[in-house]
Amino acid sequence: MSLFRTKSVEDSIRDTEAESPEHRLRRELSAADLTVFGIGVIIGTGIFVLTGQVAKDKAGPAVALSFILAAIVCGLAALCYAEFSSTVPVAGSAYTYSYATLGELPAWIIGWDLILELALAAAVVAVGWSGYAASLLDSWGWTIPADWANPPGEAGGILNVPAILLVLAVTAVLVAGVKISSRVNALIVAVKLFVVLLVIVAGMFYVKADNYTPFIPPSQSTPNVEGGKAPLIQVLFGITPVSFGWLGVFAAIAVVFFAYIGFDIVATAAEEARRPQRDLPIGLIGSLVITAVLYALVSLVVVGMQNYTRLSDAAPLADAFKAVGSPGFATVISIGAVAGLTTVVLILLLGQSRVFFAMSRDGLLPEWLSAVHPRFGTPYRSTILMGVIAAVLAGFIPLAALAELVNIGTLFAFLVVSIAVVVLRRTRPDLHRGFRAPLVPVVPALAVLGCLFIMVNLPVETWIRFLVWLGVGFVVYFFYGRRHSHLDTAAKMGEGPVIGPKDPVA
Ligand code: ALA
Repeated sequence: MSLFRTKSVEDSIRDTEAESPEHRLRRELSAADLTVFGIGVIIGTGIFVLTGQVAKDKAGPAVALSFILAAIVCGLAALCYAEFSSTVPVAGSAYTYSYATLGELPAWIIGWDLILELALAAAVVAVGWSGYAASLLDSWGWTIPADWANPPGEAGGILNVPAILLVLAVTAVLVAGVKISSRVNALIVAVKLFVVLLVIVAGMFYVKADNYTPFIPPSQSTPNVEGGKAPLIQVLFGITPVSFGWLGVFAAIAVVFFAYIGFDIVATAAEEARRPQRDLPIGLIGSLVITAVLYALVSLVVVGMQNYTRLSDAAPLADAFKAVGSPGFATVISIGAVAGLTTVVLILLLGQSRVFFAMSRDGLLPEWLSAVHPRFGTPYRSTILMGVIAAVLAGFIPLAALAELVNIGTLFAFLVVSIAVVVLRRTRPDLHRGFRAPLVPVVPALAVLGCLFIMVNLPVETWIRFLVWLGVGFVVYFFYGRRHSHLDTAAKMGEGPVIGPKDPVA
């Protein structure tokens, strides 16, 4: 049963007040900082790139509905994250919550799974950034040779140098300190919000009512997709994928879900929040609501400007302005996309280093990773390690299909957190909850159903990759984490749990 031993909420919180200052994170972030963090990581590739593809292939002008439905599923999960983060305001998010409720093995699996959401997504977004940066430089007459702007084997590429440079630069900013990085972030988020509002306000003048009819185009059944590309729902229930119609709007949710990834990262900054009980729920739900409204408006404007069948795949927002004869706006939008995608990579990597920090502090990963920099106050070793891994992934791997792996990894974490909220209500009703999710267990149950619905719409090959990744995680746990866990050490010594690292690392 040791696989399901839990770390009590009190121990998790006490760990944050660990004896040695070099293992302690600084509490510097306010509710506004957290909301800006959320917006900084949420608005990115999803709205800047995926809107066009989804409108064209799946939802038509009704893509705004897919965005709203995806936001509802995320909102249900966000209520669960908000309750947890206000009860256990400790770095590590879903990993820490699972350790407190479901036990060590599920917690390890979630921590391992979060690498898919965080480090892999950072690499995916860096590749998207590289494409925008290359096209912007190109429009100014500086062309990066295709060999050095694409991964091996794609469009004649050898190495995606811009993507590597971006990830390394972002890693350096993160090592320099969370307050500095949140200021850099706030500035770039302002640029990004300006661009998004520009699309909405300037674009409205070019909207033609004709482009909205039919709002939901009649459904077309697509030929059966075979093999690994088929969605799981087809393999399980024989439901073939449909483009357009209401079913198309639903199928599109599995893709536009990527656009909301990141709101949960606000919870990973729990130990750095000044008043976590109040600020975390505001940061989580606030950033989600703001982005959902912006996405719905942006997508409505874009499909109104240009017929959905003609939207571009790579840069739909900028290209819609080119199509209506306003290339000046298109350049401004591309600059905003370059700035905007930078903050996404920044916060994804911030979240990743914090999850590793929490796992290492519990002994499930080597302790030297959890040392905090004596001057900068940041977990610099885990930040550098994951930054380098993400940079290598971004430089070498064509990542289009891996974006789906990011989605499944994230949905799995949402699902587990939604279950864990109900478990913790039963096992620890006494705990102070700064925020209580409404209508438990109905809200968590709806969140689980919503996540499962999106997951079965993902391809079989994504499921296989996901299960292989979890399998590797099991092996690492049995060979390392299980034996080095501080809970294990404590049990063997017949003591209470060992709090914090045994030998502080300088
Ligand atoms: N939500 C983030 C994006 O759209 C990951 O890029």
